[in-house]
Amino acid sequence: MSTDGSLPEIDWNLLRTAARKMTEHSYAPYSNFHVGAAALTTSGAVVTGCNVENVSYGLSLCAECGIVSDLARHKAGKIVALVVVSGSGDYCSPCGRCRQLLVEHAAPDAVIDTPSGPTPIASLLPGHFDLNRLEGG
Ligand code: THU
Repeated sequence: MSTDGSLPEIDWNLLRTAARKMTEHSYAPYSNFHVGAAALTTSGAVVTGCNVENVSYGLSLCAECGIVSDLARHKAGKIVALVVVSGSGDYCSPCGRCRQLLVEHAAPDAVIDTPSGPTPIASLLPGHFDLNRLEGG
């Protein structure tokens, strides 16, 4: 976030290019479904991720897991804008588990690039589990 508290400007083409490039780093020998993701963050950094599968299929990491890991590794704040694509270069809808991951690490007004335009990340998982519910019981 800049010193005046404003969010960095979103360059969707840059994020789409970065996400598509990340599909080339994907390790997906079991599904052959390569996913890449890129996000602009409140610090102005661009963080990226790709899916990394495992022979024990359920242990596979989605591209969004890589995003969250890269975000922490760079102390880059929160997600402001996110692109997730498959190997075709088209939008890949985040799975349920990743929606929960993303909501926690996204800024309140964060958006995801979808075929119908930028969509609030918060809308991906209505009624999600959060800290208030944990503390409130
Ligand atoms: N995948 C992701 O990387 N992100 C999603 O949100 C959906 C699914 C990956 C997991 C697995 O490696 C492959 O796509 C097929 O499910």
